[in-house]
Amino acid sequence: MRPSSPAAPPRLRVLSGIQPSGSLHLGNYFGSIRPNLEQQGKAGESIFFVADLHALTTVQDAAVLRQARQDIILDYLACGFDPEKAIIFFQSDVLEHAELSWILSTVAPMGMLERAVSYKEKVQKGIAASVGLFTYPVLMAADILLYDTTHVPVGRDQKQHVEIARDLAIKFNATFGKDTLVVPEPVIRAEVAVVPGTDGQKMSKSYGNTIPIFGDEGVILKAIMGIVTDSKGVSEPKDPDKCIVYQLHKLFLSASESKDLAEQYRVGGLGYGEAKKLLLRAYLDHFRPMRSKRAELAQQSALVEEVTRAGTKRAQAIAAKTMERVRKAVGLL
Ligand code: ADP
Ligand code: TRP
Repeated sequence: MRPSSPAAPPRLRVLSGIQPSGSLHLGNYFGSIRPNLEQQGKAGESIFFVADLHALTTVQDAAVLRQARQDIILDYLACGFDPEKAIIFFQSDVLEHAELSWILSTVAPMGMLERAVSYKEKVQKGIAASVGLFTYPVLMAADILLYDTTHVPVGRDQKQHVEIARDLAIKFNATFGKDTLVVPEPVIRAEVAVVPGTDGQKMSKSYGNTIPIFGDEGVILKAIMGIVTDSKGVSEPKDPDKCIVYQLHKLFLSASESKDLAEQYRVGGLGYGEAKKLLLRAYLDHFRPMRSKRAELAQQSALVEEVTRAGTKRAQAIAAKTMERVRKAVGLL
């Protein structure tokens, strides 16, 4: 017998997750948070969760994880996530993530996971090659497929993971019933696909090259002033496309503003010290309201608990329906 069809998902259901494994940075903001925020409340549902089960693959200190989980919810809220419009929760509070992950792992070909670049990169960086780290993409697929997600806004580094989620949905449907799982699409904005870090590599918590969104202004100043540049003098013409300061500054500007700034680089006369100060100003203008909201929210001791309790309930309601279809499809119901 064919399993029942997915309850017609909303036209657009956007989902993304972020690991509580360090302070939020510009890469997270432009690659994931902002595209997700732009969808919030526009159409269908926006789902945002803290991938705390994923974080266990790298954070194995309970006190550190506990703090990071709380912080990241406050960060999200300060960035503009509205618990009235978006569903906000901790992954570990919705047990179905782990259950679906197991079921998907039974159709996940070993070869597919062996080709996952992120696993290889992490092991190369010295992270312990646990089974959990290896099957990380399967849990991520479960996160996505559990909610009939249609769109997943991520940076380019996560593209392969979303493709694995697509492949697993297709494989599952082919094996157990073609209408069980919704096949999601990654949403990757070309202009913010890879936000460079202060050293020119991809900005990442694990590379120590980030410009954080929240936290001490002194740390931000130091990070921006420490951006690597070539040694061209003030009057020399500079190539904006090769300059990390410009690449970062551009993120805050409209198309015509970035064109004007690029011209200033090209004609010469703009030194790197001055260019960094301009970037700092653009950064502070953009994030000032969020930074002060973050400080306010931190005073409300019950806020995280309240927001996530409500979010968990809504998430569980969707997850339960999907799991009913999945259990029926595989013969567990
Ligand atoms: P990190 O690499 O710092 O650990 P995460 O893996 O927690 O970041 O990423 C969370 C989200 O932010 C993901 O959607 C990821 O694609 C996005 N992201 C992270 N770094 C960047 C970057 N440098 N440029 C664009 N998007 C990024
Ligand atoms: N793997 C993602 C990252 O490191 C975090 C994540 C977990 C995620 N589950 C997800 C992102 C589901 C989008 C959708 O950035």
